[in-house]
Amino acid sequence: MNIIVTGGAGFIGSNFVFHMLKAHPDYRIICVDKLTYAGNLSTLKSVMDNPNFRFCKIDICDREAIYKLFEEEHPDMVVNFAAESHVDRSIENPQLFLETNIMGTSVLMDACRKYGIKRYHQVSTDEVYGDLPLDRPDLFFTEETPIHTSSPYSSSKASADLLVLAYHRTYGLPVTISRCSNNYGPYHFPEKLIPLMIINALNDKPLPVYGEGLNVRDWLYVEDHCRAIDLIIHKGRVGEVYNVGGHNEMRNIDIVKIICEQLGKPESLITHVADRKGHDRRYAIDPTKIHDELGWEPETMFADGIKKTIQWYLDNKDWWEDIVSGEYQNYYKKMYENR
Ligand code: NAD
Ligand code: DAU
Repeated sequence: MNIIVTGGAGFIGSNFVFHMLKAHPDYRIICVDKLTYAGNLSTLKSVMDNPNFRFCKIDICDREAIYKLFEEEHPDMVVNFAAESHVDRSIENPQLFLETNIMGTSVLMDACRKYGIKRYHQVSTDEVYGDLPLDRPDLFFTEETPIHTSSPYSSSKASADLLVLAYHRTYGLPVTISRCSNNYGPYHFPEKLIPLMIINALNDKPLPVYGEGLNVRDWLYVEDHCRAIDLIIHKGRVGEVYNVGGHNEMRNIDIVKIICEQLGKPESLITHVADRKGHDRRYAIDPTKIHDELGWEPETMFADGIKKTIQWYLDNKDWWEDIVSGEYQNYYKKMYENR
């Protein structure tokens, strides 16, 4: 089996590459990544010499390069992680999100149509459903929940999902879509809540909580997401959407307090800053469908996952110090100074 994994130098994509090489030692994994600010080749160094792995620096919007790769590799499946993924950046610059997340998806699917494919899998997000009120803990996102997006990021992901379903209905492309809640774990880029707070706390820097910190996210350890996608591409029904989430809702402020406690840092580092524009209040996934149809359930409890994650950041300072000492400094200043 030849599988193209796009965005494999990013957070979830790299974890998926590691998972697949381990779980399916007879598969060939071809990683396609543009290496944007969020993609890091050093993340993949442990698999670079694996004969079943190939890395290709390609932009998924580059039609010619993608077609050439299909001619060389004859992939059986494509799993598309490649995306601009940070909501705050999408508020600053929506255009790039439309190009990669929508146009890039269409280029990949056109290649699948032209050369044939057993499965095209789109890695989507629970953010396509919009948000839920904080005072209705009885409500959850199911696969039937209407698309109702808030940010340019989530709108671009929802547009891509609609396009994927249209390619299935119109051209019969064998697609599946997964919509997952917030992931955490190793190789999470430092702009996102959990790694940002771990790294700032380690450096005794302020911990910038948006607003009151009462917004709720449904956190899932990244390896559990990778296992879910592995199941969907092999056993999921073509044309179907699967929600992935761990029933693990937490308020942002509580996450930050846990990180302070585990690192032995004072909560006085917590600083409340101006809220995100259009900030989604609560995400909460109902994972009944993937549980009932494919037998998936999360294996890592948050209490264990957050310990493992913090330990990973303590053990891999070189990885994140390299990132936060570069262009990230300008990003951080722009987003957080005088906020
Ligand atoms: P990330 O930002 O860490 O990684 C994205 C990767 O895509 C990077 O390696 C980047 O270089 C690459 N990339 C970006 N534009 C590209 C292009 N034009 N061509 C080729 N490669 C390109 O993102 P992530 O958090 O790992 O998210 C991966 C996917 O999962 C995204 O599609 C995201 O929408 C989705 N998702 C993320 C989460 C989460 O909590 N992080 C949850 C649900 C779904
Ligand atoms: O739900 C899935 C989504 O989760 C994915 O589709 C996105 O790609 C991924 O980035 C993530 O989006 P969020 O916006 O939920 O993640 P983020 O880590 O940016 O923020 C989590 C929460 O923490 C959110 O309510 C905003 C808040 N926050 C974030 C940062 C970076 C802060 O309070 N302070 C911060 O500095």
